[in-house]
Amino acid sequence: MIILKSAAELALIRENAILLDGIIAKLEQEACPGLSTAQLDRQAERWIRGAGAEPAFKGYLGYPASICTSLNEEIVHGIPSEARVLREGDLLSLDIGLRRRGFYADKATTFVIGCQGSPALRELLAVAWEALRCGVEAAQIGSRVSDISHAIGSFIEARGYQVVRHFVGHGIGRQMHEEPQIPDYGLPGRGARLRAGMVLCLEPMCWKPQDASDEREEQVAVDGWTVRTPGGEPAAHVEEMVWVSEGGPQVLRRKGSL
Ligand code: MF3
Ligand code: CO
Repeated sequence: MIILKSAAELALIRENAILLDGIIAKLEQEACPGLSTAQLDRQAERWIRGAGAEPAFKGYLGYPASICTSLNEEIVHGIPSEARVLREGDLLSLDIGLRRRGFYADKATTFVIGCQGSPALRELLAVAWEALRCGVEAAQIGSRVSDISHAIGSFIEARGYQVVRHFVGHGIGRQMHEEPQIPDYGLPGRGARLRAGMVLCLEPMCWKPQDASDEREEQVAVDGWTVRTPGGEPAAHVEEMVWVSEGGPQVLRRKGSL
């Protein structure tokens, strides 16, 4: 069942989403060459708790940290480590969840450390964000869940990029992962109809295969968490929370639309 949120619940979820935006923005500032991903994790936890919230990922299915820090060919669920020291030109994905006053927020961003990054990395990031915008645009009342999936996946694949197959976007509210599951690919016109009051996390995860005919899927490392591209290509992961509303889809974030 997809849980619809009341106006009061939505107001809280929006507050939490905006709080998380601020924390992610500050971490992006902090993430300079020489810092370890474990240091980023500790800083994130301090800021989350300092705001009266709890880190949502810590202990979730046994996850050992407060945030996910996925570097370069790591797509998602990279575990912070003292041994992973950021270097200029690294591609870092930060994925963070928090819970405050009974409701969750969950977002991710990807950026280059210490510089603008190569044209290839900038294109990768642009494709991921634009795919997210396509997904948001598809989140209209009366459309179906897989219309969002199709919008995200078809945009990415048309540009010669690959999407993850085993990790999905999701509803969010009193639980971090609520129904529906929202894959980054699929045929349109399937799944539940979207209704006012749904809050959905859309999270494109993609990479450009070195060899265009390489259709291999993402791979999970022996640590049980870290998900990597099959050919070692750099990957992007971005995630926003979208409210399906009478006035059209609204991204719950500090600065309005994407
Ligand atoms: N951000 C991930 C998601 O959207 C959750 C991370 S899983 C955790 O589902 F175990 F790290 F929490
Ligand atoms: Co999520």
